[in-house]
Amino acid sequence: MNYKLAIDWDDFLTNYWQKKPVILRKAFANFIDPITPDELAGLAMEEEIDSRIVSNKNGIWDAQFGPFTQYDDLGEDHWSLLVQAVDHWHTQAARLIEPFKCLPQWQFDDLMISYATQGAGVGPHIDNYDVFIIQGMGRRRWQVGDRNQNYKQYSAHKALLHVEDYQPIIDEEITAGDILYIPLGCPHNGVSIGESLSYSVGFITQTSQTLLSNFADYIIDNLPTAIYYQDKDLKLPNDPYQVQPYELAKIQDQLIDLIKTPKLFNDWFGKHITIPMHDLNIIPVETPYDYYEFESLLKNGAQLHRVPSIRILKVGDFGYIHGEKIDLPMPIIDLLCKTDTLCYQQIQDKNTLQVMLDFVNKGYWYFTEE
Ligand code: SIN
Ligand code: CO
Repeated sequence: MNYKLAIDWDDFLTNYWQKKPVILRKAFANFIDPITPDELAGLAMEEEIDSRIVSNKNGIWDAQFGPFTQYDDLGEDHWSLLVQAVDHWHTQAARLIEPFKCLPQWQFDDLMISYATQGAGVGPHIDNYDVFIIQGMGRRRWQVGDRNQNYKQYSAHKALLHVEDYQPIIDEEITAGDILYIPLGCPHNGVSIGESLSYSVGFITQTSQTLLSNFADYIIDNLPTAIYYQDKDLKLPNDPYQVQPYELAKIQDQLIDLIKTPKLFNDWFGKHITIPMHDLNIIPVETPYDYYEFESLLKNGAQLHRVPSIRILKVGDFGYIHGEKIDLPMPIIDLLCKTDTLCYQQIQDKNTLQVMLDFVNKGYWYFTEE
């Protein structure tokens, strides 16, 4: 099923994005769940897939982490199963993220799906990402508070950070096809009314702290020549124990120069931002194809499919995928970004085939028919 999303993006971005929570009623008309609770439970049995079960029986919070081998003993109510990055593993569910691909893709995190029984939820909490929660089957009551308040948080369980009482600015039930958008920093609590499924499309950015530390690692690995502070115009200072303001400014410039060098900064960012945040369904080819075998498969009509949700982005004049630079011209990179399925006619240039051969052998693209 192709999901059609009715959102006025201009209005949404101007009034709500990272500003305040909102319910978009019937944003998906006639919503049909792309996955069943049983299928979700099956995914949560897989080693590579992050999942957890959160319960709140008689007011006692508990969390267990997958993979799960069985779901007996959970009872009828007050527990939910949450599975991360379902877009990496379930083709139909992945279609739900398509309408959100107009937003900056470098900020896309994953599609998390939760199945909840009567009274279940993960408790009142604050997330460090922006999220569109699409209601599927059933109903949930959501209470969402404003951002930018000094909310107190506490551990309701060692794996559950909850937030103390807050004043909801939204307190409503949502049903199939409604979307609740929650900006980073807004406390929220969703409680299932009967059985329900919900789909969280998350967008995340990294803190300056993380970025700086990661950029520093890149610089250490990629800039072997040491850069020293030098001051050839040095005059004897009045107070040699005082670091002069101009000296501090020179040191700042020395560091900022590195950040402002596109060859370094862009390359670091392209590699860094395409590193996956969750495991991907990448299976390297057991016996690598050689060039002629690869070309002839394509010539005979085989098609290449990109691994779902592998991170591919353009930074400056270059393309990056899965933490590496793509050595191809921009028109081809554009094609690789926008198209999930490729055929021979689109990539028949020798250089392109060579690069694609490497990507197929690594498992970034795969043949569906040979
Ligand atoms: C859920 O889907 O059960 C929890 C989503 C959230 O509150 O972040
Ligand atoms: Co949340």
